Amino acid sequence: MSEDVVIHKGLENVYVKETRISYIDGVNGKVYYRGYDLEELVERSSYEEVSYLLIFGKLPTKRELYNWIADISSNYELEEGIIKILREVPKRNSPLDILKYSLLTIGLWDEKINSLEREDLYEKIVKILGKTPSILASWYRLRRGYRLVEPDPNLGYAENFIYMVRGEPSTRDAEIFDDILILHAEHGLNASAFAGMVTISTLSDLYSAVTSSINTLKGPLHGGAAGAALKMFREIGSPDRVEEYFEAKLARKERIMGFGHRVYKTYDPRAKILKNILLGLDLPPDVDRLFRIALKVEEVGMERLCKTKRICPNIDLFSGLVYLYLGLPDDFSPAIFALSRLSGWIAHILEYLEDPRLIRPRAKYVGELGLRYIPIEERG
Ligand code: ACO
Repeated sequence: MSEDVVIHKGLENVYVKETRISYIDGVNGKVYYRGYDLEELVERSSYEEVSYLLIFGKLPTKRELYNWIADISSNYELEEGIIKILREVPKRNSPLDILKYSLLTIGLWDEKINSLEREDLYEKIVKILGKTPSILASWYRLRRGYRLVEPDPNLGYAENFIYMVRGEPSTRDAEIFDDILILHAEHGLNASAFAGMVTISTLSDLYSAVTSSINTLKGPLHGGAAGAALKMFREIGSPDRVEEYFEAKLARKERIMGFGHRVYKTYDPRAKILKNILLGLDLPPDVDRLFRIALKVEEVGMERLCKTKRICPNIDLFSGLVYLYLGLPDDFSPAIFALSRLSGWIAHILEYLEDPRLIRPRAKYVGELGLRYIPIEERG
């Protein structure tokens, strides 16, 4: 009974596999996708190319990229059945919940839903990547009572999404959205990637594994943090109230959203890129007001949390503001995160399938044994 075991709460610093997908240098604040510096990918690449890189392990040739884009964009269109469901379900549902149910529903149209064969997986991957932006854009419009916009397979991934949301393209905003997608595309074996891996370790199916990841992303400590940060900026109300807000929060041992990370013990490089994007934009007054508060939160947090406790700004300090600038409401932030992260999750799922083993950890039993069963009538 008295097993001598070490318990790794939160699996902190527990290694469960080798990976070639990404590396987070949490000390120097760098991220590498398949060996390439994320900052360079944001500057020079596109989400389509980065998703290929993550999933297939190398940068594509011109022909490979052409085929990849064609296979994804030929899947932009949604089945009538999905559109019917989207029209009928209550509009209060969050985009993330809509996304997870829609992806599972799309699986129901897949004759080979359970197949884990390489060629079948490819078909599923391009389907999932192709349809996800259309699901989210359609949900955005249906909620507002707008007519749906048909996808345009001639547009790039980010451009088509912006077009389907607004009904008109915007090259500039599509470029910003493309940066957002690349920045969120992969980040190691975090909770959501791990959840997908646990599901596929039972040799379940791709739709189920991806949906496990989406479910796990949902919480405010992971994918919900961007929206929680926006809520915090609104609660603070003005930059001169930031110090007092910190005082009160930290005294109550509560968390400042957009700060802290299990791996980074320095400024998250993705947050720096987003901050620079925001600094270069002509922000509408409501976003600008929140951005000024965010900058003050960053300044105070650097002193109070980062320099002293290594709890530093993370990507979610600024990502919600970029979504807001793009016209996407708060509750879209975890769904956009999921849209971007699909390629990272899928990469981890495929990598795990190369050498799968059922994931089955243990919990140390500390309860009683040998209790006598008391019939319900005698329990008082
Ligand atoms: N504000 C204030 N204190 C914090 C914060 C924060 N944001 N984050 C951690 N701490 C403190 C904890 O209160 C704890 O203090 P204690 O030891 O005195 O109890 C200590 O730091 C360690 O906290 P843990 O929760 O054990 O650290 P963990 O590695 O699990 O935290 C996490 C990582 C969950 C991201 C945390 O920093 C947090 O809650 N941040 C706020 C939410 C957030 O911004 N999430 C986005 C993460 S990035 C992403 O998922 C895209």
